Formats: sequence, structure tokens, C-alpha cells
Amino acid sequence: MTSSAERPRLLLVGGAGGLVGRAVLKEFSPDWQIRSLHRHAVPAENDRGVEWVPIDLAEVRDWRPHLECVDTVVNLAWYRWGSERRFRGLYEGLRRMVEAASASGIRRLVHVSVPDAPAGLETGIPYLSYKRKLDRDVVRCGVPYRIVRPTMLFGERDVLLTVLVRGIDRYPFFPMFGEGRYHVSPVAVEDLAHVLRREAEGTEVGTLDIGGPVRYEFRELTDMIFSALGKRARYWRLSEAGSLRLAALLQALGSSLLYRYEVEWLLSDRLGLPAYSGLERPMRRVEPFLTAEVARRRGAPAPRSKG
Ligand SMILES: NC(=O)c1ccc[n+]([C@@H]2O[C@H](COP(=O)([O-])OP(=O)(O)OC[C@H]3O[C@@H](n4cnc5c(N)ncnc54)[C@H](OP(=O)(O)O)[C@@H]3O)[C@@H](O)[C@H]2O)c1
Repeated sequence: MTSSAERPRLLLVGGAGGLVGRAVLKEFSPDWQIRSLHRHAVPAENDRGVEWVPIDLAEVRDWRPHLECVDTVVNLAWYRWGSERRFRGLYEGLRRMVEAASASGIRRLVHVSVPDAPAGLETGIPYLSYKRKLDRDVVRCGVPYRIVRPTMLFGERDVLLTVLVRGIDRYPFFPMFGEGRYHVSPVAVEDLAHVLRREAEGTEVGTLDIGGPVRYEFRELTDMIFSALGKRARYWRLSEAGSLRLAALLQALGSSLLYRYEVEWLLSDRLGLPAYSGLERPMRRVEPFLTAEVARRRGAPAPRSKG
């Protein structure tokens, strides 16, 4: 925290234009000054007095002007899918940022990454192989760092629960990958933003994996969504191999609904991480979010969320 007599500390955020970024801006803007680098305008940044630098991070050669007067860097930027070339370009831009942060005496570097994945994915897809390269660069850069690795996130316009609610609402059957007995422990994006702030303001160094407050079997979660929508649960059961084939087909057709690696990761049962225990308030559960999301779809005013 900053006392009102002091000048707020300057936070540089890379990639704040998306799901996590929206929550990060809300979390930090009351008492941090924010410089935000990403490509597409976000109205909330204007409203919150953020200094937005419209830029492709892959293209930044000289980071010094962007890092001037910066106290802490939070990096969020990544793509959900793309070519090797695309990931390499972004990785190179972010690697230069990490090196420049080290040279310019940044106090702290907080980098958002992803939890462990099956070995074949860790090295076999650019999404993960470049992510891990960047993680290693962060560890080695010499700036006190925190790598925060949340499991699946939920929040307004997410690519998990919102998509599941929409799919289950829209179609008579929902595809169930395998038995659905693998686990997920979704984290509210507001909780992640709060953790990021604690970590930005703290002193611990290292990697931190984060799950939400409840570890569900995937099928429990989808059953809950059927129930929230007032529908009887009806599944189209797919074998694990069939699930991967379906996801690969959707991906080949250019859909961004679901990628093959996401299904493989889910089936590997690595996404039910334990809850983060360091918050001074309970972490948010998915149920109120589902109720609000269903109400929104039905055109009813969503119940007001607390906190
Ligand atoms: N969503 C999840 O469930 C989840 C779970 C675990 C970890 N994570 C990690 O959390 C981080 C944030 O995820 P998110 O869900 O907020 O992703 P998101 O909604 O896709 O947002 C990513 C943001 O990064 C920016 N970005 C991407 N490439 C860029 C580039 N070349 N130059 C500048 N900005 C760029 C984009 O902003 P512009 O389009 O404006 O450039 C975008 O707003 C990522 O590192 C992701 O791997 C996410």
C-alpha cells in the first residue's frame, strides 16, 4: 500500500487487455500508477487514468523508455494458440523486457504462467515450450521475481465457465470427454488479481501454483451448470481418444472454442491445483458466478456479487 503523502508506485503491465488484465487494472489502479502495454484499446483503462501504450510487445526493441521510473513489472501477455513464429516473436520481445528489467534495476517482476502440463505438451507445442523458456529467463534474470501459475480462471467473458454455460444452454447434449472424473479447481480472476497484488507488494521469490477453493470433478462442474440452467444433465459420451480427435477437428476448422492441447491437459488430471491460502478473505466459489451468468443469459438482472 502507498500512503496518500507518497507518489504512487509505477506498475508496468504487459498484456492487460484481456481477462486477467481487466481484473488487474481494477485491483491495482486505486493506489498504483499504471503503464499498460498491449495492442487494442480498453475503455476501462481510460476511465481509470491508466497510461496506455498501444504496442505489439513482440516489436519492442528498446525497453528502456517503457521501464523508466517503473517500480514493478507484471507480465500477462500470451496467446492462447498460434504458430511457432508467432510465439517466438512474442517470446523474444518479452525476453528483451526481462533483460532490460534486470539492467534498469526494477524492484520486482511478477510473471503469470501456467501449471505443469503433460510432458509431450511441455516441449511439443510452441504455446508451452516458449512459455517455459520465458519462465526460465525470469528465474535467471536477477530481479526478485514471482512466477504465478493459476489453473483455469473464471470471470466475465472467460473462456471456461462462460463457454460451458453457453454450450450447455444452447445444445440438447453436451460432449463429455472420457468419464469426466479428472479434476478442476477454477480460480476467480478477481482472486488472481488480488494474489498478484500481494505478490507484487511482497518479498517472496519463486514459483507459486494456484487453485481455487473447491476441487471438483469436471463432471460435477458440468452437472452444476445443467442444474443452474434448470436442465436435466444429458451427455454425449466420448472416449478420451475421440475427445482429442473432436478437439483437433474443431481446431483444424479454425474454431477457437477449444484446442486439442486444452483437452489433453484436462484429461491428464493436472488442473485441480490446491487452493491458494494466503488471502485475508475466502476465495470465490464458482456457484455465485454461475447463477449470475445464467441470470444474464436469461435477461434477468444478475444478483449483486459481494466484495
Ligand atoms: N485464462 C486462463 O484460464 C489462464 C489460466 C492460467 C494462466 N493464464 C495466463 O494468464 C495470462 C493472461 O491470460 P488472459 O486469460 O488474460 O489472456 P487474454 O484474455 O487472451 O489476454 C491476453 C492479453 O495479452 C495481450 N497480448 C497478447 N499478445 C500481445 C502482443 N504481441 N503484444 C501486446 N499485447 C499482447 C492481449 O492484448 P491486446 O490484444 O490488446 O494486445 C490480451 O489482452 C496469460 O499469460 C495466460 O497464459 C490464463
